[in-house]
Amino acid sequence: MKFCRPALITPLFLVACATESEPQYDPLQDYEEVDTTTIMDAPDPLAGNFAPEHLFQVKHGEYLVELLGCGACHTNGALEGAAQMDMALAGSDIGIAFANPLGDEHPGIVFPPNLTSDEKTGLGLWSDEQIAVAIRAGIGRHLRRRVAVMPWEGYAKMSEKDVTAIVSYLRSIAPVAHKVPDEVKPGERSKHPFVYLGVYRSR
Ligand code: HEC
Repeated sequence: MKFCRPALITPLFLVACATESEPQYDPLQDYEEVDTTTIMDAPDPLAGNFAPEHLFQVKHGEYLVELLGCGACHTNGALEGAAQMDMALAGSDIGIAFANPLGDEHPGIVFPPNLTSDEKTGLGLWSDEQIAVAIRAGIGRHLRRRVAVMPWEGYAKMSEKDVTAIVSYLRSIAPVAHKVPDEVKPGERSKHPFVYLGVYRSR
């Protein structure tokens, strides 16, 4: 049912004309601020007989993953400040929107994938080079998409030594089977929670 009250100024008129069954989309009402602060340790490498040089590389990779905050997105719960540490780096069921929060009721959403070496749900079948390209150029294994939201621009100038260390480290942690939800296309309703990150400028 539509109900309209005479109103003098346009914004009021718009609100008063809303139908009862379809409330107006109001991002300021529909979203709440969450504390995304998650300071995380990266999980320890599995015990193994690493040659000293390889162990140094793995530990350097662990340090970089901690420093660059990969786990703050790629761990379940972390985007809302409550990281599930037993699932560290195994992907997030909380998505990240990549559209304008004030304009789109149903934004496109990506879910930070599983970075452990599980073959079905993680990076187990990726080559070292494919992982390095995803980190430094934001292009996923199937080369069909730029990885939105993943802050690869910040990692683009990472040295060969550092990116190799990250790959060695990711390969050294325990594989965890965990499939993150599929990407949600703009306009579709998400069944999973999501957050907005980012910077918007005025027009
Ligand atoms: C701001 C959140 C965020 C941070 C921080 C982040 N990532 Fe990502 N990453 C993502 C998202 C989201 C995707 C998937 C994007 C997509 O599906 O298009 C992704 C994709 C990837 C992929 C491709 C995997 C796949 O299955 O497609 C790799 C590898 C990766 N990230 C590694 C890293 C590493 C290593 C770091 C730290 C150096 C890192 N990411 C930091 C959000 C993040």
